[in-house]
Amino acid sequence: MTVSNPINQFSNKTALVTGANSGLGFEAAAQLAEAGYSRVILACRTLDKAEAAKQALAERVGIDPFETLEVDVSSVESANAAGDELIRRGHSIDTLLLNAGMISGDEMKKSPDGLEVAFASSIVGHHVLTLRLVEADILPKDARVVIAGSESANNDVPAMMDMSLYDFATEAPQEFGDTLHQAMITFAKGDKPELFNPTRYYATTKVFTSWWTAAMARRFGERLAIFTVSPGANLRTNAARHTTGFKNFLFTKVMPTLAPVMGMGQPISMGAKRYIDVLHGEDGEYANGKTYASKAKKFVGPLHEMQHAHLLDVDRQEVAWNVLNELTGTAEHQTSQIAIAG
Ligand SMILES: NC(=O)c1ccc[n+]([C@@H]2O[C@H](COP(=O)([O-])OP(=O)(O)OC[C@H]3O[C@@H](n4cnc5c(N)ncnc54)[C@H](OP(=O)(O)O)[C@@H]3O)[C@@H](O)[C@H]2O)c1
Repeated sequence: MTVSNPINQFSNKTALVTGANSGLGFEAAAQLAEAGYSRVILACRTLDKAEAAKQALAERVGIDPFETLEVDVSSVESANAAGDELIRRGHSIDTLLLNAGMISGDEMKKSPDGLEVAFASSIVGHHVLTLRLVEADILPKDARVVIAGSESANNDVPAMMDMSLYDFATEAPQEFGDTLHQAMITFAKGDKPELFNPTRYYATTKVFTSWWTAAMARRFGERLAIFTVSPGANLRTNAARHTTGFKNFLFTKVMPTLAPVMGMGQPISMGAKRYIDVLHGEDGEYANGKTYASKAKKFVGPLHEMQHAHLLDVDRQEVAWNVLNELTGTAEHQTSQIAIAG
């Protein structure tokens, strides 16, 4: 039997979580329902996954404010279709958690649009879906948006984890092309497979989430609050399931045992709570467009605003924004129109 939440400030609010069938997304959906949201939309790769998550979440929380939505966030077409479906349903989405993401295996895989799949899954569909919702006013004024980042974007994780950023993220581009634009396009399309390293791709992709957040806040900061939040190291999710060999052993066997003892890992509930804390932050508590993660060189503990120069670099943020528009067919003049209209 399901019961209703008591009335509180979230009683008439809707939240949407991508990647809600596993790990941090599942946990965050549970915490949003427990906070009292009247509707929590579980946006998953397939409806079967979303339905299974709905059932498991309703059993866990004892209430069922959950709705399902199908979206492959690596696909422009699927993200647009999900946007259309949300517009058709017509509910405002007050709280948007863009949590889906992945680390690839050793073999490079491409999204339906021919982009490297971990890059596409973390940022491409999220970009398209968010703009679609802004354009349709489904994200109301004062909506709050969080996208999943990672401490690896800071470029200071232990060398053993093999997560150093590709050069264009921090210095003059060379590896993927001589200009920032060319380097980002080549990286996104996976056009230099000889440079492919799944953990380095993952870390560099998470820099794009920070750049995107800053570029979004510059355009839409008057009408919504948007943040990148790293959930920190939560070692019992399914995040490493595509990795192979030593990396798989490291992430699924060694780290879950050693990290908590070494202060490098935390329960999933604490990682999801990081998202929720920022989504529910007071005005001014978190700065619009900024990235929040553990203190430099840490993976757990209180959230700090990241001040790394490469994350704050406006040139890189703007080139990344243009590249995302180019790759997804979203024209800059459309997005400026939205900003003006809003
Ligand atoms: N775990 C950590 O320590 C950690 C640290 C920093 C950042 N993060 C970030 O936290 C987020 C959640 O990761 P997690 O650790 O909870 O991993 P997880 O258990 O593997 O969950 C990832 C979720 O994302 C979904 N997803 C991935 N690609 C998708 C796509 N193309 N379309 C639709 N859904 C897709 C997955 O769906 P399927 O089940 O269908 O694949 C799954 O629901 C990720 O963005 C990750 O990068 C995690």
